[in-house]
Amino acid sequence: MIDSTQKPLLRKIKSGGKLIGRVKVPGDKSISHRALIFGAIAEGQTTINGLLPAEDPISTANCLRAMGVDITPIENNKLVTIKGVGLDGLKEPTEILECGNSGTTMRLLLGLLVGRHDRHFVLTGDKSLNKRPMQRVGSPLRMMGGRVNGRSNGNFAPLSVTGQQLHGAVIGTPVASAQVKSAILLAALTANGSTKVIEPSLSRDHSERMLKAFGADITVSGEMGRHITVIPGSKLLGQNIVVPGDISSAAFWLVAASITPGSDITIENVGLNPTRTGILDVMNQMEANIEFIKTNKIAGEPVGDIRVTYSSKLRPFEINGEIMPKLIDEVPILAVAACFCNGKSKIRDANELRVKETDRLKVITKQLKKMGANIVEQEDGLTIDGTKKLSGNDLDSETDHRIAMSLAIATIAANSDSTMIRSEAASVSYPTFWTELERLRQ
Ligand code: S3P
Repeated sequence: MIDSTQKPLLRKIKSGGKLIGRVKVPGDKSISHRALIFGAIAEGQTTINGLLPAEDPISTANCLRAMGVDITPIENNKLVTIKGVGLDGLKEPTEILECGNSGTTMRLLLGLLVGRHDRHFVLTGDKSLNKRPMQRVGSPLRMMGGRVNGRSNGNFAPLSVTGQQLHGAVIGTPVASAQVKSAILLAALTANGSTKVIEPSLSRDHSERMLKAFGADITVSGEMGRHITVIPGSKLLGQNIVVPGDISSAAFWLVAASITPGSDITIENVGLNPTRTGILDVMNQMEANIEFIKTNKIAGEPVGDIRVTYSSKLRPFEINGEIMPKLIDEVPILAVAACFCNGKSKIRDANELRVKETDRLKVITKQLKKMGANIVEQEDGLTIDGTKKLSGNDLDSETDHRIAMSLAIATIAANSDSTMIRSEAASVSYPTFWTELERLRQ
């Protein structure tokens, strides 16, 4: 979370050099949140190896601690241990639950808390989170008998939840959102009767996989796994979880090495869950130099080491439709990649980008334009002509972690240096990003 009352620090980012070496990206953010939440409501102990030690999962852990869950400190390379309180063991907190910058924390907690009858909860976030739409979670939870209130008819935090005995429902979600889906699945665990969620297209499926591993009665069916049914009544049992590296963090190195002459990076232990690998399909379309060195399966999730080297002949790409949920967080760095492709790239069906930590279509267009990019913002996407060379400028992350890291990579491959304010936003998902960038640069 960025303290907006502080004078922003100015970071100097040098252009040039090449990126060489091996990098192990930190743990997957989505899996880290889920491991903490499911561990908290399981019976017995859960251990998490490789939990992402960044601001967003720390927000989730702090909220769970405020409800009486014992979670050991979250530090780099340290096993995290959770003493589960069971499905009904969360205490009514005496404090407001602070979700910081984390949409996943707020949305998943709404689903977790709405069925805790006789308990009341208040959730808030930072300036960015309190502007993000929450009706998409509140509405389906109300269909199950939930009570969620907040500003603008419950659409914006601060939100209050008065726990109820929920009933099961069949719920079609209007947007493919793993946060919405996961909130419903969490609520379904303690409802009366079964609940079915139907997504318009498949969003990331970490909740389904992990809930099954914890012992929930959950079935995935339908075309491409878009129908998910939960039958309540099964206890969750503590697990030993290993979190793979976050492909959304690996994305910065995949693009950085592809667009920076002379680069050769091997990214270790990257999560390759097929609901997350859209960026690799795009790198294929670009004919980037990517090689899978070894692939493996840990804790039910595929992982692999990926080597990527510079290519002077990147082809433009077009993305839209069903691939979008599989690369939704990678659009800013793909916009940077498009600036180095030989022709016009088109990104469509990306309206969801407008309600992320910032309006990412607007912010990436504004910042890349300052660098001289030929980028046009459309209502639902971007068109980028990659034939113009980028130059450094005075940049601003506008408090968005993925914008900060994307602009840093754009500067490395540009022909002059940049400065950036609010670069510390990177800590929301990748606290060691800036030091890793300097370590890899030669
Ligand atoms: C997330 C799902 C995605 C993604 C976010 C993390 C999750 O959001 O953008 O960074 O962990 O469930 P939506 O599912 O709302 O699109």
